[in-house]
Amino acid sequence: MPVPVPEPARGLRVALLGCGVVGTEVARVLLEQREDLAARVGVPLELAGIAVRDVEQPRDPVVPRELLTRDAAGLVDGADIVVEVMGGLEPARGLLLRAIEGGAAVVTANKALLAADGPTLYKAADTAGVDIYYEAAVAGAIPIVRPVRESLAGDHVRRVLGIVNGTTNYVLDQMATGGLDLAEAVAQAQELGYAEADPTADVDGYDAAAKAAILASLAFHTRVSADDVAREGIRGITSDDVAWAARTGHAVKLLAIAEQTGEGVAVRVHPALVPADHPLAGVKGAFNAIFVEADGAGPLMFYGQGAGGRPTASAVMGDVVSAARHRVLGGKGPQESTYAARPLLPPDAAVTRYQVRLLVADLPGVLAQVAGVVGDHGVSIDTVRQTEPTEGTAELVLTTHAAREASLAATIAAVRTLDPVREITSVLRVEG
Ligand code: NDP
Ligand code: HSE
Repeated sequence: MPVPVPEPARGLRVALLGCGVVGTEVARVLLEQREDLAARVGVPLELAGIAVRDVEQPRDPVVPRELLTRDAAGLVDGADIVVEVMGGLEPARGLLLRAIEGGAAVVTANKALLAADGPTLYKAADTAGVDIYYEAAVAGAIPIVRPVRESLAGDHVRRVLGIVNGTTNYVLDQMATGGLDLAEAVAQAQELGYAEADPTADVDGYDAAAKAAILASLAFHTRVSADDVAREGIRGITSDDVAWAARTGHAVKLLAIAEQTGEGVAVRVHPALVPADHPLAGVKGAFNAIFVEADGAGPLMFYGQGAGGRPTASAVMGDVVSAARHRVLGGKGPQESTYAARPLLPPDAAVTRYQVRLLVADLPGVLAQVAGVVGDHGVSIDTVRQTEPTEGTAELVLTTHAAREASLAATIAAVRTLDPVREITSVLRVEG
């Protein structure tokens, strides 16, 4: 009897939606590393086409012009794997749903979409029995989605804390070390490909909030959307804040913090002072770092490049290979896990320390008056510093012990009404 000859395995058609900072680098890897990828997957990955808005625009020479198309929907139809790196809610959502309903596996870097309406996509993928992967949506090159979603699936995560936005970290770093103002540093981050198409998403904390929501959902098996995250960006941070931070032995960082307590889940994004000897204070440029605290594993730290085309393409391609292996060998990635459905806590329930800077009249008894009001609100002062008075005005810098956000807000409102208080120059949380 003749030995059956196996049919030559067909390559997998990969549709790329978007050819900007990230898409260009994904195309480069697919085209320049095709042999390695074929060896890892078992069949070739064929770049079937690249959907863009403008096919005439000048592009990196690596991009074959004949693969560019404005017909994203047509490209999606018939693809085995659809990679979405176009960003925005629509048409990205519609195209991903179309891909899923057509039986394609999908890979996306679009945290804004996942944090706004991820469950619709997860449910559709579940119904269609296809993979949905999104490692690049959180912290660029750093493998963090897979560790939280899969490696820690047998543990109990308590807290996720970190720097998850490369642009704002770059901006704060440049303000601290390069003497740049916020606008100049944001422009540099845009040139380097770190910033979102609309950089207010970075500066105002929306990007970090989206990532925090994705991580919290995975870590706590509870649906958390971007709207559930208490969010404050870095727009209010001044060069003076950054300089004061250095003077008091801190660095200013935009932190994402997701915690699970007995009462529920709290997720927040805000700038904070981090002690100079804390590992997060040493995270420079567009790098990201994330601490995960789990009951069994203890503390874990993830560090690497959080933005930029090549680092992000690395995460995208890891997902493409995983999805492709499932196509060839069978199997499927994990589904959404929401069984815990923990209550989401209001923002003012958070407990943290604060540094408050205020300008006061340089008169006897003022410090006692301020301290009295702070104490009356149940907030305890840790340290007080006073600068050399100029023209009858002194600057006080109070650092508190841990207090509830709601208590601090009430304290600040009361301190502001005191006669000798001329201005509250800044209120920053102290973390780490
Ligand atoms: P870019 O703005 O550089 O690129 C977007 C691409 O999508 C462009 O090629 C654009 O076409 C195309 N596009 C946009 N809208 C449409 C549309 N309606 N139809 C067809 N094509 C469209 O974005 P990035 O590469 O920076 O980011 C892409 C995604 O990756 C976003 O979701 C972002 O949040 C995410 N991400 C980005 C990171 C980064 O460091 N940049 C890091 C991690 C995630 P055209 O070229 O013709 O304008
Ligand atoms: N704009 C994002 C950042 C890109 O600066 O971190 C990576 O998600």
